[in-house]
Parts: sequence; C-alpha cells; structure tokens
Amino acid sequence: MNKKEIGLIELRKEMEKDKRLPLSTNLVFGEGDINCKVLFIGEAPGEREDTLGRPFVGRAGQLLTKSLEEIGWRREDVYITNIVKRRPPDNRDPLPEEISLYKPYLTRQIEIINPTLIVPLGRFSMNYFLPLAKITRDQGKLFHTDRYFVYPILHPAAALRGNTMMAVFKESIKKLPKAIEKVEKLISVK
Ligand code: URA
Repeated sequence: MNKKEIGLIELRKEMEKDKRLPLSTNLVFGEGDINCKVLFIGEAPGEREDTLGRPFVGRAGQLLTKSLEEIGWRREDVYITNIVKRRPPDNRDPLPEEISLYKPYLTRQIEIINPTLIVPLGRFSMNYFLPLAKITRDQGKLFHTDRYFVYPILHPAAALRGNTMMAVFKESIKKLPKAIEKVEKLISVK
C-alpha cells in the first residue's frame, strides 16, 4: 500500500471513531481514483448514498456520472466526496455547525489526494473554498485561492430542477477539460 492509500484509510478510521462528529447515519467517505486530477465535492449524502455507503449514486449522482461520460471521462478516474459525510435527516441542508465539524477531515482528505483541480458541486462546498462567492454568478469560473485551483459548478440536483439550470450545468461540465488544461499551464510556468 502506498502513502496515499494508508493516509486515507487512517483518516476514515479516525472519522469512524470520532464521537464529536454529528449525524448518526453511515459514513460516506468518498470514492474514486486517489491519483486523480479532479476532485468533486458535494454537500452531503442522500438516502441512496447512505444505504450504499457511496457518494452520488442517486438521481443527482446518475446525472453527474452521465455528464462526465458525455465529455469522455469515467467516474472511476476522478474522486468524489462530500463536505459533510453523513446524511442529514430528511435530506435537509447541512447545518453550519455540521459543516464546520466535518471540515477538518475534508481538508486532510484534500491534502492526501492533492488534486490538480477541485470542483465544488453547489454552494455549500463552494463556500468552503470561496466564502464570498455566489453559485449562480460564479459557477463555471476558475478561481485560484491561496492553496487550490477551484472550479465551482451547480449541484446536479439543482440541474434536475429545470431546463435552464440543466443547460448551465452541462455547459460547465463541458468546459472542465479546458479548465484542467489552463491549470496545468499555470502550474508549469510557476
Ligand atoms: N448530493 C450530494 O451533495 N452528495 C451526494 O453524495 C449525493 C447527493
């Protein structure tokens, strides 16, 4: 096992033991290629994710998977996780205190995976990197924070709410390969 694999296993074990973490549903840690270029971060697992212990496997997840396939990407080649890693009751939005208690674990997960580009899905994970950003205004734009390159896009569940949002979501997914190219260029001249 390599350093990344060991790091993620340890992190997961720590989370499972951490009694201060809110919500008592199953831990949905994340899945995908730990050597990925792109890390997707959603908000919190839903019912299906809780049952299967996997992120983005319900309706929104199927849309994400299909949209990645449309640009020639495979879900297994990226890494997918959430900012809050247990399901809030009745699929309500995660509370600020839930986000802040789960946040340190997400930070460590990102450090271990060390992706080239982070793609927050929706406002909750976007605001972790870009506290002042507005999802409808800033989705589909590339940002460079002090630590990461971040390209927020709409949450796929929002895209399922109407044709306009769906078009915006798909357009931003289509621009992902270009965003990666741009980041790689910027990194190479640093
Ligand atoms: N919505 C999310 O934000 N995350 C999931 O894993 C599923 C739905």
